[in-house]
Amino acid sequence: MEYDLNAIVTPYVTSYIREKTKQSDEFLAGLEKYAAENNVPIVEPETARLLSVLTKLKQPERILEVGCAIGYSSILMSKGLKEGGKITTLEYDHDMVMTARKNIDAAGLSDTINVVEADAKDYLSYIDEDEIFDIIFLDGPKAHYVYMLDDAVRLLKKGGLLISDNILFKGMTADDDHFVRRKVTIINRLRDYIDALMTHPQLESSILSQGDGVTVSLKTVSDFERFGY
Ligand SMILES: C[S@@+](CC[C@H](N)C(=O)[O-])C[C@H]1O[C@@H](n2cnc3c(N)ncnc32)[C@H](O)[C@@H]1O
Repeated sequence: MEYDLNAIVTPYVTSYIREKTKQSDEFLAGLEKYAAENNVPIVEPETARLLSVLTKLKQPERILEVGCAIGYSSILMSKGLKEGGKITTLEYDHDMVMTARKNIDAAGLSDTINVVEADAKDYLSYIDEDEIFDIIFLDGPKAHYVYMLDDAVRLLKKGGLLISDNILFKGMTADDDHFVRRKVTIINRLRDYIDALMTHPQLESSILSQGDGVTVSLKTVSDFERFGY
């Protein structure tokens, strides 16, 4: 079987939600248009709105994003930052980095959003300040979320949110009937990631079946409370 793009949410429900979820910010609407025309994968409109609501609710001082692409979601999240707040966003594709920096500059956010050109798989373990981020958004290499989890939890403040996109992967994560053989590694790792999130002693997680599947995890137990140091 090939991908069933409508495996998670039926098309008429998606159309309805999207009709109601219009992007009112002109600059972001322009980036959505650019992404659609240039096949750049950015968060789906309903996931963008969820990110926006969660960020404004949390009013974070520091956000870490894995997977910047052209800077769309980091610009979106910057609108919910506390005054003086900062975003670090990781991207390993050089052309994407250059485009993201250009967009962030055009949005007047160069002092707020730092695009780091790095492979997130390595970079997270080099950040040595623990519990510094209020929100971590994983939207990069899906097959590596499970290996990033320890660092993500370590870097997140107690009360912080870990948000992970594409965890249902066109429904394949949930059901072998929607499984494409060549995606076996990524799907098995996403399944392991979801199991790890749902049983993690420091997190309370919710799996949302919107867009391509999103998890929202609240860090309820600090590293000190768990490990005693
Ligand atoms: C889905 S896109 C991100 C979209 C962006 N968050 C948005 O919604 O505007 C995923 C991005 O992650 C990047 N990526 C994939 N693996 C990566 C890695 N190991 N380290 C850093 N970036 C990575 C890809 O190059 C791609 O630009």
